[in-house]
Amino acid sequence: MDNSPPITVRVFRFDPAADEAGRLEEFAVASAAPLSVMALLAKVRELDATFCCRTSTCFKGRCGSCLVRVNGRDAFGCTTLVRPGETVVIEPHSRYAVVRDVVIDFARPLTAEGESGQ
Ligand code: FES
Repeated sequence: MDNSPPITVRVFRFDPAADEAGRLEEFAVASAAPLSVMALLAKVRELDATFCCRTSTCFKGRCGSCLVRVNGRDAFGCTTLVRPGETVVIEPHSRYAVVRDVVIDFARPLTAEGESGQ
């Protein structure tokens, strides 16, 4: 029996069709081993099918399609690991407009003021 404490994942939720602003929602993910942020996002999607995230990627830190913000810092979700018992905050990458939840629009980079150029 595994006694590892769960990973507490606080993910950004935002549906532009329904929400005026984003919020963080918390999930507990059971794991006996460290998981990448990408794996955690997939687990959150298993717990809540309305959660949106990208999953088809290189998983090698090369393509950039996994870009997110982890504990306040922009990062590759595929190479950033979270250990059992830790709490992690996962938000959209800071340099692109949000499509929904943590999915960003690579075609709409943000200005220094945080505005979409389009
Ligand atoms: S999945 Fe390609 S860089 Fe992370």
